[in-house]
Amino acid sequence: MDPHDIHVQDIHVARSGYVELTKINDGHDGNLCVLEQHRDVPFEVKRIYYINNLENCVSIRGKHAHHELEQVIFCINGSFVLKLDDGETQQEILMYRDHVGVVLGRLLWHEMHSFSTGCVLLIAASDYYDESDYIRSYDDFLQCARDH
Ligand code: TYD
Repeated sequence: MDPHDIHVQDIHVARSGYVELTKINDGHDGNLCVLEQHRDVPFEVKRIYYINNLENCVSIRGKHAHHELEQVIFCINGSFVLKLDDGETQQEILMYRDHVGVVLGRLLWHEMHSFSTGCVLLIAASDYYDESDYIRSYDDFLQCARDH
């Protein structure tokens, strides 16, 4: 069995889970992956953003949670490690399948690191960008998660 198989790596943290997109394999002509709001992700998608040009060894992204925003994060090229923390449980997930995303629910601290060469992240979000929805202090996050 492939030790990196997603089914081996169950998600234990709260407010998360896998999202598996339809993937159409066109052989030598590549793959086509489809994300439809409500059908594939459990919310209306108001914003999409992507992250590229990472310096694999040193880059770290995330290090925050959100009060209300829900997101699904994908690794559409290469691989990286996604660290999740719901305030009680932490885990790291190897992200390497272009059609398998992970839900970043509200009040879920997340960090991304160990990016491979050419890694590209794509994120679907439930709302427009709003800095006031961010929790950027880990202590504040723990307090919010406890009060949740
Ligand atoms: P941030 O969400 O902290 O990035 P990451 O979680 O990937 O490390 O955002 C980095 C910067 O980009 C921050 O200054 C806010 C800005 N930003 C926008 O202006 N609009 C957006 O939609 C996002 C996601 C970020």
